[in-house]
Amino acid sequence: MSAGRLYNSNPDLDAAEFKWWQKFADVEERFCWVQTPAVQRFLRGRYVKDIVSMAPTGARVAELGCGAGWLCIMLAKLGASDVVGIDFSPEQIGRARRYAQESGVDKRVRFEVGNIEEISERVGKCHLIVAHAFLHHLATTEIRKVLAKIHRCLTPRGHLIIWEPVQYPRSLARNSSEMWKRVLWWLTSVPNRGQRWGIRKQSEEELNIRRILAGRQVGNPPQGPSPKETPFSPGEIEMLVDPLFDVVSSHRCMAGSLRVAEELLLMGLSHPYISRALFWPLLWTARLVEIQVLKHDAPSDDWVFEMFDCVAKEKTTAPISVPASTMN
Ligand SMILES: C[S@@+](CC[C@H](N)C(=O)[O-])C[C@H]1O[C@@H](n2cnc3c(N)ncnc32)[C@H](O)[C@@H]1O
Repeated sequence: MSAGRLYNSNPDLDAAEFKWWQKFADVEERFCWVQTPAVQRFLRGRYVKDIVSMAPTGARVAELGCGAGWLCIMLAKLGASDVVGIDFSPEQIGRARRYAQESGVDKRVRFEVGNIEEISERVGKCHLIVAHAFLHHLATTEIRKVLAKIHRCLTPRGHLIIWEPVQYPRSLARNSSEMWKRVLWWLTSVPNRGQRWGIRKQSEEELNIRRILAGRQVGNPPQGPSPKETPFSPGEIEMLVDPLFDVVSSHRCMAGSLRVAEELLLMGLSHPYISRALFWPLLWTARLVEIQVLKHDAPSDDWVFEMFDCVAKEKTTAPISVPASTMN
């Protein structure tokens, strides 16, 4: 269990998390998390295809904490015929609805404003439920509650896909993975090279966005940037789902390539032509290096994104209690 994870939330923290999403949804989407459809297809297309393949034709698929809806839209584009996304942020759901319409999938994808209390009412019975970068925004007690609700919404032996950040402690890292990780970090710095010689200048727009990005880090490490956000520690997800789900497979999907894309997108605000020329060669390189990082047993001290395919147990075991030392 991660030392930093909250055991219980409280109304002030919940309100702060909600406000954070209302305030930073735009920069999160444009630069940090969602980025562009082309980047999504490149970095995430493979595992999204795997997710779609788990839903039989015509089955309902739901995404909890869907944000601006890119994953629901991509699931529909790749063949899912009945997708519902819920999120507590009206700002994000507004964007999601607009994008679904623009993408022409609004007949197959529905978005609803809703919090974790309202999962059953919003999504109904599903064959597949996806929690993509969502559970790490919740306290342990909330995760347990959500898992129980998901279990009730799933058809017998239905699938829950969990895709979340896991942080491996540095003590577990191997020299070889450290080397690849350093290369990945170096690639992140490439779009910012040349500032000392005046070749790379930051425009007012880029400086402004960078100021907003710096202001969004409000969680205490390892929490953040949002107030409740905390990566999982190795084995934590397996332990949390165990009373209700069997984990049938898991694999690492992404490490730092997203940050390389982020720096390139920011560079594009000042040097659009150079950013465009560098974009794909650098992102391809980052992806190839990332694959090396992901191959190692204990890849990094940074966040690594892992996907867990969980199947609802028919007979559930009693929930495991959480040691008091993890409560804060
Ligand atoms: C990192 S984003 C992930 C969004 C989307 N799944 C994706 O991968 O792009 C986390 C999302 O969880 C939502 N969220 C956080 N706490 C929530 C809660 N208690 N109920 C519903 N949504 C919540 C936020 O509004 C945000 O959109």
